[in-house]
This record gives sequence, C-alpha cells and structure tokens, in this order.
Amino acid sequence: MIADLAARYAASLDQTMRTVVDSAPDSRDFLTLLRYPLGWVNADGQPYAGGTGKRIRPLLVLLCAEAAGGRWQDALPAAAAVEILHNFSLVHDDIQDASPLRHNRPTVWTVWGAPSAINIGDALFALAYRALEGLSQTGLPPELTIAAWRILNHTNLELTRGQHLDMGFEHRMDVTVEEYLSMIEGKSAALLAASAQLGALAGSRSMETAGHFASFGLHLGIAFQIRDDILGIWGDQAVTGKSAATDLLSRKKSLPVLFALERSPALRRLYARKHFGKREVDAALELLDQTGARAEVEAREAAAFQQALSALAGSGVENAALQDLRRLAAALFGRSA
Ligand code: IPE
Ligand code: IPE
Ligand code: MG
Ligand code: MG
Repeated sequence: MIADLAARYAASLDQTMRTVVDSAPDSRDFLTLLRYPLGWVNADGQPYAGGTGKRIRPLLVLLCAEAAGGRWQDALPAAAAVEILHNFSLVHDDIQDASPLRHNRPTVWTVWGAPSAINIGDALFALAYRALEGLSQTGLPPELTIAAWRILNHTNLELTRGQHLDMGFEHRMDVTVEEYLSMIEGKSAALLAASAQLGALAGSRSMETAGHFASFGLHLGIAFQIRDDILGIWGDQAVTGKSAATDLLSRKKSLPVLFALERSPALRRLYARKHFGKREVDAALELLDQTGARAEVEAREAAAFQQALSALAGSGVENAALQDLRRLAAALFGRSA
C-alpha cells in the first residue's frame, strides 16, 4: 500500500537523494559508508538491491505539497532532506541503543565500529542541509527558504532532546506517561511533523497552511512511535528488519513497559535488578503479556491516529492528494513493519 502511494515519486526521490549524497567529497570508502545505511550498496560498495527503509517521511512531504495545492516536484529538496536526516538519526540511534540489525542488515556501527558510525551520521546530517539548499532553486521566496531551514533546525533540537530523555529513561523507574509522550514528540513525531509542514510550505508557500499539516504530522508521528514500541516487543524480526527484544534488554521505558510497570509489582522488581539478561527479558515478556498492556497501548495508538485525521480535516483542504494522505495514515495504523 505504501509502495503504491510512493510509486509516482520513487524514482525522482531516489535520484534527488543520490545526487545530494554523491556530491559529498570522496576518500577511500567514505561514500560507501554514506550509501550503505540508505540501502544502495553493500559493505563492499557493490550495488545492493535488498531494499531500503519505508521512506514514509519523504512520501509525507510530497503528498502534503500536493494536498496544499502545489507541485510535488517543488518539494523534492525537502523530501530528500528529511529522509537523509532520518537516516542520520538511525545511524546514531543504533549506536545509542546497541542495535545490531536494521533493514535486515548489520548496522553501520557493527560493520565499521562506533567511531566511524558517529562520523557517518555527522556527514549525513550535513547532507540533509545540503539537500534543503535545493529549495532555493524552486522559486520559493528567500524568506520561506529560511523558514524551512529553521524548521529543520528546530526539528533536530527536538530529536536530540527526545533521544536524551529516552536514554535517561533506561535508568529510571519513575517515568510518567506524560514524560513518555514528551519524549516521543521529540525523538520521532517532530520529524514527521516537519515533513508534513515542509511539504505543505513548499506546496502552498503559506506558513499558515503549513501549520495545519504540521499538526497532522505530529499526531501521526505519535501514533507511529507507539506502534514502533509495540513492534519493539512483539514484532517479528524477519518483518521489521530490526532485532527483537533489544528494547527490553536495555530496559527502555516504552509505552507498553510503562503501562505494565504500573500494574505488575513483579515486573517492577524484575526491572530493579542489577543484572538484566536474556532470562530477565523472557520473564519480562511473560509479565507484559499478563498485564494486558498491549490492548491499552493499541487504544492509545488508535486515539493518536484519530487526532491526526482530525487535524487533517482542520486544514480545510479536500483533494485527491488529501485522500492519499488518509490512505497513508490508514496503512501505517496497526502496521507490522
Ligand atoms: C524508525 O522509523 C524510527 C522511528 C521513528 C520509529 P521507520 O520505521 O520509518 O524506519 P525506516 O525508514 O522504514 O527504516
Ligand atoms: C526512533 O528511535 C527515533 C530515532 C531514531 C531518533 P527508536 O530507538 O525507538 O527506533 P528504532 O526502534 O530503533 O527504529
Ligand atoms: Mg532509540
Ligand atoms: Mg533504536
């Protein structure tokens, strides 16, 4: 379904992203390391056709540009920027979470080591801004190009604030649902909000219109991250392409865990242990299942999706691209990857 929606844009998006990444200076295998997390090459630099991420953020950018009454081609620089930025965040996140697997492949840090992975993340970060520079060639007025730049900057600060909270939660037992929501707004919803906002800005050239779309993206992002938390515990590794149970192993305070900790004294005792290994993960899984936390979390996911759809209705727009946005939201709801 997502691939159907993305088909129209896929080749142009890929081309735009490749042009930006290829513009980086090369030395030895530097470009290989940049291309690897984007799913274009193997670790030896040879072409890889085993698949990429879902590319939902750029899809959101391009659909929102059209929904806001513009040409999706004018939003390609923003689409490339958010996807490259997203991949920067994944490269660093996999170091931070000690995750061995992403997109069914070893993560950058497991192939080349954490120091190199940090460096490649930094380079992708810079390339995201280089991608955004392309907006100035679309006829977007300079003040709105600067506005787009500010949106991306704000998003980066939100993202790192969220990651900061998330990592801190691993060592805390008193995390509240409110704190959790603030954390996911930062670490992942902010970038979906920015995607929708940048797309609508490029399409409508109106900050006001873009604001409605930002709200849609934010709620969609909250629902999206709640689903990621569900998949982080009950997901099928073969489908998600990410290692299962690392969230539990690192004692992440994801939403199912928060709900279950509230209900189960046995789980609280388990999480307070000094050592937390494979055996504790298995025991935690069983306790999580017993508490019924999953149903509660899924209800929260559904509520956030509903809020996203309301925000979309609030934009006052109605056209074919908007219907596609609703289809995208529906495809993301309850997804398994
Ligand atoms: C993963 O995002 C990180 C989160 C914010 C949950 P995606 O699930 O969109 O990752 P890819 O791009 O498809 O790999
Ligand atoms: C997602 O973090 C947000 C960022 C990558 C900044 P997670 O750690 O929750 O996402 P996955 O599950 O590794 O993709
Ligand atoms: Mg993380
Ligand atoms: Mg992670």
